[in-house]
Amino acid sequence: MEVVVVDSPEEGVALVADALATLVARRVDAILGLSTGSSPEPLYEELGRRCDTGRLSLQGVRAFLLDEYVGLAADDPASYRTTIRRQVVDRLDIDPDRVSGLDGMALDLSAECRDYEARIAAAGGVDLQLLGIGTDGHIGFNEPGSSLGSRTRIKTLTEQTVADNRRFFVDREQDVPRHVLTQGIGTILEARHLVLMAWGEGKADAVARAIEGPLTALCPASALQLHPHATVVVDVPAAGRLALVDYYRWVYVSKPSWQGI
Ligand code: F6R
Repeated sequence: MEVVVVDSPEEGVALVADALATLVARRVDAILGLSTGSSPEPLYEELGRRCDTGRLSLQGVRAFLLDEYVGLAADDPASYRTTIRRQVVDRLDIDPDRVSGLDGMALDLSAECRDYEARIAAAGGVDLQLLGIGTDGHIGFNEPGSSLGSRTRIKTLTEQTVADNRRFFVDREQDVPRHVLTQGIGTILEARHLVLMAWGEGKADAVARAIEGPLTALCPASALQLHPHATVVVDVPAAGRLALVDYYRWVYVSKPSWQGI
């Protein structure tokens, strides 16, 4: 696992945007895995700036969302499909028909999850999966206790995650769903490159447990330790509890400049 400690989220998202641009330059029809929440927001803004100035085009890519709330319609302002439409589809030159999300209103949620897995596999699998991390160590919405081999399925959020998500439900806090559909940890681990971004002190504990703690279902993000190409990009406050922070910095500054993340 590569840990990159940056001085600011802006510096971090520039690195991730470079990696994405390199991927798309190599493969115009690359498959991206999109996450939602506040962590990837500055990245989507940076990608928007690059598309606006012609430095990047995502016209050929396909994308799969990581997760979705159960019971929210696709056009609900808080649904992840709407959030991605607002932050990515409306902002970048990505083809809306090539962006897929889970339907949290499907009558048969298990069939929806199975079908989603099949669609990802039929597309050839995810090349680059963006991830955030929950304060309890979740990735996607795989809460503590999730099987490290889990597949896309329905999950019940912890009370802490429900509380963390209230900020996205302004004036309707009682509507924060307790159930979600999420790619499983086994599903996520099949992506060819995982890029987890975390900003701010509030993530420091979860980041330290994920990177330096034991591999355990109690911290689902620790599953990244199993992946052959996982990159964790953190700002200084989010890196605040990492024991080997000096080493990670040393490794990064010692890297040849041609080698991206
Ligand atoms: C959302 C997702 C979640 C978030 C996590 C952190 O698609 O996968 O795992 O990444 O809850 O959320 P933020 O970034 O809002 O702190």
